[in-house]
Amino acid sequence: MNTHDGLKGHLAVAPVIRHFRCMPVPSILQVHALGKSVPGPRRLFQGLDLAVAAGELVAVVGESGVGKSTLLNLLAGLDLADEGHIAIAGTDLGALDDIARTRLRRERIGFVFQAFHILPYLTLRQNVALPLALVSNDAAAAETRAEAMLDAVGLGGRGAGYARDLSGGELQRVAIARALVHRPALILADEPTGNLDPGTAAKVLALFADAVRKHGAAGVMVTHSDACAAIADRVLRLGPDGFVPHDPG
Ligand SMILES: Nc1ncnc2c1ncn2[C@@H]1O[C@H](COP(=O)(O)OP(=O)(O)OP(=O)(O)O)[C@@H](O)[C@H]1O
Ligand SMILES: [Mg+2]
Repeated sequence: MNTHDGLKGHLAVAPVIRHFRCMPVPSILQVHALGKSVPGPRRLFQGLDLAVAAGELVAVVGESGVGKSTLLNLLAGLDLADEGHIAIAGTDLGALDDIARTRLRRERIGFVFQAFHILPYLTLRQNVALPLALVSNDAAAAETRAEAMLDAVGLGGRGAGYARDLSGGELQRVAIARALVHRPALILADEPTGNLDPGTAAKVLALFADAVRKHGAAGVMVTHSDACAAIADRVLRLGPDGFVPHDPG
């Protein structure tokens, strides 16, 4: 084929590519009219709407105490909303019983908790392998992938250690490896770089962005960091009436 033919071929597929670009990307996460109050009683937020597509990373910012961690817990089905609906890959969380909700969380969600929650009686490798071992029933393969994930977060060769031997930043990286190991459809992260130096934070953010964009996950990341917000596709500010566009100025 000469160059001219190649160009003609390219022109022939261009409308097809344009057509696919125009097709809507299905949302993995859909939230409608969500409301949550906490004992006090105090309303944290109401009327919150959000849709996050496959391959999209959304950063959530907001003042301390506004309800960001509470919102992530709701999205993961770890807490119940007072009003509204949350759907993950088309499944309404509110329609599931505890067992089904736990199964969906295990199979579809990766969660980096603000307080890490690394289990102290398991090795770091076992901690990271756990989400994958639970869905695959192949502990050996899960531990092999866990080692690769530890390597990716800069903790290669540390898999036999325990949480008690790690610094806060190292624990945070183990938590991140564990959240991504089973390639979840929805990744929720609560200030995932809060304890990391700028260089390590950049590496971890690249890992997040890859998990979202290369593997077509949806990502929601609570953050106070400009670097985190900069890598996101959208930055939303949480307030009492739901999300408002974030004005960095
Ligand atoms: N189960 C609960 N009982 C009583 N109050 C609660 C409960 N859960 C959350 N809260 C309150 O709701 C508010 C929001 O908490 P949340 O942890 O979601 O805030 P946040 O935006 O994540 O803050 P930070 O940036 O400091 O992490 C806080 O005032 C908290 O004390
Ligand atoms: Mg919080």
